[in-house]
Parts: sequence; C-alpha cells; structure tokens
Amino acid sequence: MKKQTILTGIRPTGHLHLGHYFGAGQNWVKLQDKFETYIEIADVQALTDNFANPDKVRKSVRDLVVDLLSIGIDPKKATLFIQSTIPEIAELTVFYSNLVTIARLERNPTVKTEIKQKKELFGQSGESITYGFLGYPVSQAADITAFKGNLVPVGEDQLPLIEQCREIVNKFNNIYGKTLDAPEPYLSEIPRIKGLDGNEKMGKSLGNAIFLADDPEIIKKKIMGALTDTQKIKIDDPANPNICMVYYYHKLIGNKNLKTVCEECKAGKRGCVACKKELLSKMLEFLKPIVKKRKYYEEHPELVDEILKEGNRKAKKIAEETLKDVKKSMKINYFD
Ligand code: TRP
Ligand code: SF4
Repeated sequence: MKKQTILTGIRPTGHLHLGHYFGAGQNWVKLQDKFETYIEIADVQALTDNFANPDKVRKSVRDLVVDLLSIGIDPKKATLFIQSTIPEIAELTVFYSNLVTIARLERNPTVKTEIKQKKELFGQSGESITYGFLGYPVSQAADITAFKGNLVPVGEDQLPLIEQCREIVNKFNNIYGKTLDAPEPYLSEIPRIKGLDGNEKMGKSLGNAIFLADDPEIIKKKIMGALTDTQKIKIDDPANPNICMVYYYHKLIGNKNLKTVCEECKAGKRGCVACKKELLSKMLEFLKPIVKKRKYYEEHPELVDEILKEGNRKAKKIAEETLKDVKKSMKINYFD
C-alpha cells in the first residue's frame, strides 16, 4: 500500500522554541518514519504579515531549517522545501480564489482570531487588513493540495484552515470534476505548551519562550525568572508544584528525578533557586544533542543549501503534476 502523505507548514518568523518542539516538531520527527512527509517553509505566508520585513523572513528561513534538522528532521525521510520556490502554489491559489467568498474568509475563526490579535497588538484598524492576509487560507489550501497531502498535522487553532481547504476541494471537484483529494487534519495529542510566565501559550511575541538556539546564559536567565508558587517565600515554605512553571518544565523535559522534586517541594525541603538550577542543568542536558547537530549544520551551510535545493526540486515535481491535472479539469490546458 502506498504511504499516505503528510503535508505541514511553518512560517519562518524566527527560531523554534520549546513550544514548537513539544507541540509539533517532536511529532513530525516521529511521523517522517511512517508517512511520505513534506515540510513547507511557508515564506510566502510569513510575508502576508511581514511584507515590510523581508530581511527577517529571509534570515528566518535558514534559522528554521537548521532548527528542524537539529531536532531530527531527516532529509532522507522528509522533504523540506521553501514555499516561494514553487510557483505552482501561487497559480493554484489564483484558481482557488474564485471558489471562496470574502464573507467566508472573514468568518474563518483562525483568521478572525488573528485579526483580533493584530488589532490588540498594533491597534490596527480593519481597513489595514490586506487582501493577501485575508486570502492566506486559500494559499494554504493550495499548499496542502499541491502535494496531495492526505493528512495535515496541526494544532487545534489551525482546524478551521483545514476545513476551509476541504470546502475548496469539494467545490473544485463539484464544478470541474473529481480532481483533488480532501485532506484530513491529524491532531497531535500534545496540548499547548505553557510559557515561562505561566501563560497558557508559549509564544515568541509573548516573551515567555525558551528557544532551541538560546545560549546557556540566556536560558539560565529565563529559568531564573520563571514563575514559581508565589506563596513560597522562604526556602522551607511548603509549596504547590502544580502551579509552578519550573516544575512544569521539569516534567516536560522528562526529568527522572520528578517525583523527588514534587515531594521535596510539597514538604518545604527544596529551595526555588536550587530547583531552578537543577532544571537548568537538566535542560542543557536535554538540549545537548540538538545543540550538537545545530553546530554541525552551522559549520556546513552548503549542506543546508543542498538539502533545500533537493527538497525544492522534489516538491516542485509533485506540484507540477497537480497543476497539470487542475488545468486540465479547468479546460485551460490549451495545447495538450
Ligand atoms: N498556517 C501555518 C502556521 O501558522 C503554517 C502553514 C503554511 C501550514 N502552510 C501550511 C500548516 C500547510 C499546515 C499545512 O504556522
Ligand atoms: Fe517550583 Fe521548585 Fe520552588 Fe517548588 S521548589 S515552587 S517546584 S521552583
């Protein structure tokens, strides 16, 4: 039986942090063994938000690819490619855009939330929402269908985008004849990763993240400033580890000493500074293999280029096939 195809994407807007790793990346590393896997560096999508910061997007593409390779994405198993190098995606986007109403895009819960966040962050008025931004779900549908993605591993916040893709596929097939397959979401069982400050979400813009590429000194500073049980003042005050982010991260990175941490904390036999220092050393230990791989790829930038060029080539071939089918169904294959 032919392997099913997984297609996922990530916007290049900075380095990966632990939230990305535990929420998504770690899962992709497992999935690449089981599925035909495509990982898109969604630079065109990143530009919908960052069109005025091309340098940031450009630099992030490389940072992100090195991060992904460092956590164990294996170019022999997974195809890593850059969205903008596949013009077929842009063509599909144009064709699909006829099949989506503006009202439907405005009702898309993911888009709605993002518009709301934009307004909160920048006080942006509705009028400054661009056509490109509003239309990014259409381009994401092109991403997914171009590579015949059957399964799309996403977090819950992205579900409406998959739903929108399915609608586009169905509409396309109804009008032009069965051409495209509708994808299914592949939800990872991993919940959202909390931030160092106790926020429900670790996020770059929230300033509460540990990045995989952070220097040990920075990680130390961040861990030392993490939220603990604020009721605990003195070293021997008993505390509640379940409301402490330091404990949360001990657990997240799989500290084998977890039971002791918990018991000592509850019994007032553990100071927060010592507890944070232990977390720091376990965290650095946990990151060690990732750091080692990163160093290797940073010292061999030509290898990263090769991986991307090869990925782009392979991805383009499939997208060309899809576009050919789509044009045929739409009767714009004039010279076939
Ligand atoms: N929208 C996704 C994000 O915000 C990135 C993305 C781009 C994507 N294209 C995709 C995800 C295709 C899944 C499938 O990170
Ligand atoms: Fe958190 Fe450790 Fe302090 Fe307990 S001892 S509150 S787990 S930092």
